[in-house]
Amino acid sequence: MKIGIDKYNFYIPKQYIEMRDLAEARQTDPNKYLLGLGQDQQAFAPLSQDTVSMAANAAAAILTDQDKEAIDLVILATESGIDQSKAGAIYIHHLLGINPKARCIEVKEACYGGTFALQTAVNHIAKRPQAKALVLTSDIARYGLNTAGEATQGAGAVALLITANPRILSVNDDATYYTIDVMDFWRPNYSRLAHVDGHYSNDQYLNALDQVWADHQALSGHQLDDFAAFCFHLPYTKLGLKGLKHLTQKAKDEPLEEWEESFEASRAYNRRVGNIYTGSLYLSLISLLENDTSLQAGDLIGLYSYGSGAMAEFFSMNLEANYQDYLEGDKHRRQFAERQKLSIPEYEALFQEDLLSDGSQQSIPAHGDQDDYRLLGLKDHKRIYGK
Ligand code: HMG
Repeated sequence: MKIGIDKYNFYIPKQYIEMRDLAEARQTDPNKYLLGLGQDQQAFAPLSQDTVSMAANAAAAILTDQDKEAIDLVILATESGIDQSKAGAIYIHHLLGINPKARCIEVKEACYGGTFALQTAVNHIAKRPQAKALVLTSDIARYGLNTAGEATQGAGAVALLITANPRILSVNDDATYYTIDVMDFWRPNYSRLAHVDGHYSNDQYLNALDQVWADHQALSGHQLDDFAAFCFHLPYTKLGLKGLKHLTQKAKDEPLEEWEESFEASRAYNRRVGNIYTGSLYLSLISLLENDTSLQAGDLIGLYSYGSGAMAEFFSMNLEANYQDYLEGDKHRRQFAERQKLSIPEYEALFQEDLLSDGSQQSIPAHGDQDDYRLLGLKDHKRIYGK
């Protein structure tokens, strides 16, 4: 039985900054960000958008009443969750009106969490093919103003509806895993900002790719030229390009140019969003589907998932017949076009705003997101969501 992605969507906040503007403000050559990191713009989440509201917005646009009846598993993968105890998935389950006879859970292992959520959902549907599972990845990446990581921040959420006989992509049973205990990136409970050993983290990303790719070839029998395209976790898009070069360094007769063109398609959206941690790989997958016109039904796509700490996985998916009929490129391009650009002083002022933590009431204004689910305010240490 085929199991995989039947519907998908992503949500990005309504505000963004231009990397050229950031470069000017940080007295840096813009090409360092545009070419060196491969980033053009960066999505910015105001206080009115957190990981719960962004994930709810990503899912709301694709779920029908029939889906909400059939869903019996909601998994939220995030590393910037809103509570140490209660799963964000429960708030989202309520906001979306999903039937109560469902499991709701939140999972974490840095950017890898989304892949664990996806694979768990696939295993769940294998046992209950009549059901549907909702996988959500949602994150706000923050390193701090004037830090090396600032240029790799971002915010957004991806929603994937996992079913039997999916209309878009089926997930193959060929995942290989790798875990190594390293301190390349982490965020202690007391900190809103991530700590990172940047160059070391790049090395870990590429080392782990070697491990899971070698195992994947042995397990699946796949060779490089079986793949029409590859998607990578993209903390910034240049690292995915390095991953592709790493993977294909020994290629001779293989279609290097085609893979590079597909890679450009797969990073088009990520260049304009930045890192969304758990969702970065899946935003890249959506970008590939909606921007690569050379792909065909049946094509094999290789996916590399990496989460700092570190955990990595390589697996594959196949494009289903007529998958093109279910893509939403126009809608997503409109989402980008409708964003509001922030100047760097505006971004810096918003970046320093924070939620109250003393239990008093706080009302949070809309930031162009009045028609979306958003955080309306706080009361008695509780978050209040609505539109
Ligand atoms: P940096 O040290 O400021 O930058 O920080 P750099 O000096 O390494 O330069 C970056 C690139 O720009 C280099 O290219 C330069 O040559 C180039 P490379 O040599 O690597 O190919 N460059 C230029 N290119 C053209 N024109 C110019 C120019 N100047 C320089 N004028 C770093 C970069 C990524 C380390 C920093 O932004 C950072 O720490 N980011 C956060 C950490 C990160 O994203 N790590 C990625 C791997 S870990 C991961 O993926 C997990 C993660 O998503 C978290 C999770 O799992 O939850 C982060």
